[in-house]
Amino acid sequence: MSKDKTFYQCQVCGYSTPKWLGRCPDCNTWGSLVEERQTKKISKQSLSQSRLVSLSDISKAEEERKSTGIKEFDRVLGGGIVDGAVVLIGGDPGIGKSTLLLQVLANIVDSSLKRSDHSQIALYVSGEESPEQIKIRAERLSINSSEIVLYSETLIENIINTSQKLHPSIIVIDSIQTVYTEEITSAPGSVSQIRESASKLMQYAKRTATPIFLVGHVTKEGAIAGPRVLEHLVDVVLYFEGDRGHSYRIIRTVKNRFGSTNEIGVFNMTDSGLVEISNPSELFLSERPTDVTGSTVIASIEGTRPLLIEIQALVSPTTFGMPRRTCMGIDFNRLNLLVAILEKRASLQLGNMDIFLNIVGGLKIVEPAADLGIIASLVSSFREVPIDPTTVFFGEVGLTGEVRAVSMAEQRLKEAAKIGFKKAVIPYSNKERLRNDFGLRIDGFRNIEGLVELIKF
Ligand code: TYD
Ligand code: MG
Repeated sequence: MSKDKTFYQCQVCGYSTPKWLGRCPDCNTWGSLVEERQTKKISKQSLSQSRLVSLSDISKAEEERKSTGIKEFDRVLGGGIVDGAVVLIGGDPGIGKSTLLLQVLANIVDSSLKRSDHSQIALYVSGEESPEQIKIRAERLSINSSEIVLYSETLIENIINTSQKLHPSIIVIDSIQTVYTEEITSAPGSVSQIRESASKLMQYAKRTATPIFLVGHVTKEGAIAGPRVLEHLVDVVLYFEGDRGHSYRIIRTVKNRFGSTNEIGVFNMTDSGLVEISNPSELFLSERPTDVTGSTVIASIEGTRPLLIEIQALVSPTTFGMPRRTCMGIDFNRLNLLVAILEKRASLQLGNMDIFLNIVGGLKIVEPAADLGIIASLVSSFREVPIDPTTVFFGEVGLTGEVRAVSMAEQRLKEAAKIGFKKAVIPYSNKERLRNDFGLRIDGFRNIEGLVELIKF
């Protein structure tokens, strides 16, 4: 009798169990466990040769970066492509992953990534589209290079064998969900197939110092399918974000072994492909209404770059028993916390108010430096007093209502001044330490009472 081992694996988080369960005990998803069978032993090769070496004996790793020819994309990669790096690019279908990678390949074949120890070609492995379909896209992008080689294949062993023969200078796998290995019998796209295929590609990348881009689809829940299992494996994880209604696209770094995370690159999807936007603050503020209540602009830092973003709040008496709290772009708990601080420390009666908060442009803000701007927006809408549109805000707010210093204050102010802002409302301790005011009138606050007093007729 064969010793086939059957087990059940959660397709969302990768949890595995010998018995079927209706709900994954790890991530609490219902109905996500799927039967998987493992016939042969999964390879457990390590990525580097095992050896003992003392830290001082290692010569400085040469982490040379090569430009992709697109500055915004270089930025999210941490400065360019590193040899042997495996980069996962996730995003909704149709958002522009294949388009971007084709543009990157076209730039690379006629420029810097060319290496003497690799052949000149770039390999585009597609399991989703036929070469003809890719050709149609390439024509839209005016790309017609003999050095981009298309390869319709989904079996990972063939892909690696071919790569070994061609020795391309870069490889794109579109998408990781379509490739599979013969070593496991479960269906392509399942967690164990994705993990095993990715780890084989990873070994190839490290062994030959070839950079590989993996395209990953996003599931309904918003995670790259088989996500966590891949995220820890690859070197860089990038997410494509964007609104259906807007033509701009944002690429965000979720993980980067060679650079900072939370870095964003902003692009515009045009008729002839993705075009980078080098000054995103102007884009995000372009449709800003003036002289309305509830709208403020904050200076936020995304990765290493300052970005001006509009925050809108709507506070109105509730018509139902339970007041509603809705927010988009910031953490819901953060909003509740700030509302509670306003009630307690500034004696605002928000208990019977519906509160809606929106970060304009579909952006997501994680840093607490947005707090002061959120508070100003809420008070402005609550009191029906517009905020001066030439004022920019930043600062963290603590539970006692104190306004705390945030990092990189000068970069934030500099960006605001560049866009044409005249005033800034910032933490007092940041103001104390400023060496330059960039021509802005700066108000420093120690706590929110002072600020709330100010937003009054
Ligand atoms: P695509 O790269 O195929 O998306 P993904 O690989 O992430 O699924 O992008 C397809 C979308 O982009 C499609 O809706 C058409 C649009 N598009 C343009 O607007 N301009 C272009 O030049 C190209 C090539 C695509
Ligand atoms: Mg695609």
